[in-house]
Amino acid sequence: MAKPNIEGSDEQLIDPVAEQPGYNETESHIAILGHPIHAMSVAFPIALTFCAFGADILYWWTGDGFWARAALWSSGTAFLFGMLAGFSGTAELLFVSGIRARAPAWTHFIIAVTLLALLGANWGYRLYGYEAAVLPYGILMSALSVAVVSFTGWHGGKLVFDYRLGTSKGN
Ligand code: HEM
Repeated sequence: MAKPNIEGSDEQLIDPVAEQPGYNETESHIAILGHPIHAMSVAFPIALTFCAFGADILYWWTGDGFWARAALWSSGTAFLFGMLAGFSGTAELLFVSGIRARAPAWTHFIIAVTLLALLGANWGYRLYGYEAAVLPYGILMSALSVAVVSFTGWHGGKLVFDYRLGTSKGN
């Protein structure tokens, strides 16, 4: 591939990151028959995070303890499935050289770990009284979780669709 020149000189620009061996190796290693486990597993924490917020709203609206219990279970399973998704994503980040070399993959890691801390706090807080926990802090944490999970998922999508990480060759 032709390297770009510095304007008005014969000197060529070299990107030291792109020069690393294995930079173009971005195919998923943590996969079943070539299908990345991380991509398959992220749907669960994303959906459950939205469910927790929905259940909190319904508890606030109806006062029915069923919804507070539903929020307890959905926030807990969002956290646990989020951890599973996080393990597969972290393995991908550490073991695939082309993913490890790209800064956006590390940005996604930082956003995702922030999300996991929030999901864990949202669940843990409810374990000491799931009905009393909903208003106001439970529902506020659920709302924030929805915002952060949306950002995490959007950014993960960028890794796949813009940088083609986990698919075949990177840019
Ligand atoms: C905690 C550590 C995490 C790391 C290191 C990580 C890393 C990655 C990587 C490398 C990709 C590119 C595709 C692949 O190689 O499989 C990706 C995609 C993605 N990640 Fe993560 N991830 C983490 C956690 C999460 C969490 C907790 C969520 C959401 C709950 C999430 C949502 C996504 C989404 C939606 C995609 C795009 C999947 C697709 O469209 O195929 N990630 N992640």
